[in-house]
Amino acid sequence: MSVPDPSTDPKHQRPQRVAILPGDGIGKDVTREAVKALEAAAERWELPLELVHFPYDADHFLATGVSMPPGQMEEFRDRFAAIFIGAYGDPRVPDMRHAADILLGIRFQLDLFINFRPCKLYDRRLCPLAGRSEKDVDFVVFRENTEGAYVGIGGNFKRGTADEVAIQEEVHTRKGVERIVRTAFEWARANGRAKVLMSDKSNVMRYAHDLWQRVFFEVAAEFPELEASHLFVDALCMQMVKAPQQFDVIVTNNMFGDIVTDLGAALQGGLGIAASANRHPGRVSMYEPVHGSAPKYAGTGRANPMGAVLSAALMLEDLGHAEAAAGLEEAVASLVRAGETTVDLGGALTTFEVGDRIARAVASGAAVRG
Ligand code: NAD
Ligand code: IPM
Ligand code: MN
Repeated sequence: MSVPDPSTDPKHQRPQRVAILPGDGIGKDVTREAVKALEAAAERWELPLELVHFPYDADHFLATGVSMPPGQMEEFRDRFAAIFIGAYGDPRVPDMRHAADILLGIRFQLDLFINFRPCKLYDRRLCPLAGRSEKDVDFVVFRENTEGAYVGIGGNFKRGTADEVAIQEEVHTRKGVERIVRTAFEWARANGRAKVLMSDKSNVMRYAHDLWQRVFFEVAAEFPELEASHLFVDALCMQMVKAPQQFDVIVTNNMFGDIVTDLGAALQGGLGIAASANRHPGRVSMYEPVHGSAPKYAGTGRANPMGAVLSAALMLEDLGHAEAAAGLEEAVASLVRAGETTVDLGGALTTFEVGDRIARAVASGAAVRG
């Protein structure tokens, strides 16, 4: 892993410029509330944040024909400390062009190889599994974020005919696998976790996923105090439902990480409360809720902003504002415990009302336990 350079490390930039990209659908609804929480935190803890709003969404794409103007990615890379995104996807853009350009573009072009997705149950009433409590669901997934099935290499031959052939390749490199596996072990060590589990499908993907097997156990040997284990991804899904308490840290490839984190989100109450960070240590990173743009809920007040707020908390932590990050997380946790939530979590509040209460709790410090 690269060693952060203090002169470019986003933690040390002043002011810390944060690019806000609300996205489409409910992305806009939840981002508005996350911004309120960030502004409240900035005021309370006097954070050196400068939020800069960008207009890139499906409307912008349909009107201009471009997802983002030339040079935008370089500006994010060179002049911003962090990027915050709502969620992209609009039925008027059926091939996902702008979503792929922006979301996957940021992950790939900025080399954000760590997709960090914590899975934490804030209140046992949110867990769909019988008899499970907060201590049973508390693990993190390290999803490889720049390779695997997402590289877009492939094609269609004899497209649209009865003889059509479709090929799409997975790409796994030793460097790419090693850096995400090492990150997972280092995180476990630094955060007092005992176990790291790698998941693949090496019984079928004999070449590509065999690389994961070899690299994982090589790196594991450098962390003798940590228990290293493996499950095939089908078995992992079964175990996540059957006995989620066995997991501390899970590391896996890009597509399996996508799938198991939706399952993980369900264990913590649903997609509305799941957060993520797309990181490259020492460089600009990107933060977004795990959920999508849920177009049918856009503007209805049904979208839960908590996943977005918790993603903002991950961002504050990476920017060096641990106390403010804890303030945001505790504001969410206290509302969950009080049942002051949107309908997906069993409450009766709107997106705006939940966002307001979070911002107020952050501002007053009422939610922060001493
Ligand atoms: P989705 O996450 O948008 O919605 C699936 C379901 O989850 C919703 O119908 C809703 O019941 C629930 N849900 C999701 N977020 C919620 C929230 N904040 N509050 C309450 N309930 C919530 O997934 P989808 O329907 O498969 O995809 C819709 C679009 O979003 C597609 O275009 C997809 O490609 C895109 N997408 C984007 C991202 C992203 O930008 N990060 C992630 C996933 C999907
Ligand atoms: C996610 C999403 C994206 C992914 C889509 C929208 C490309 O599902 O962030 O989990 O597959 O990574
Ligand atoms: Mn997903």
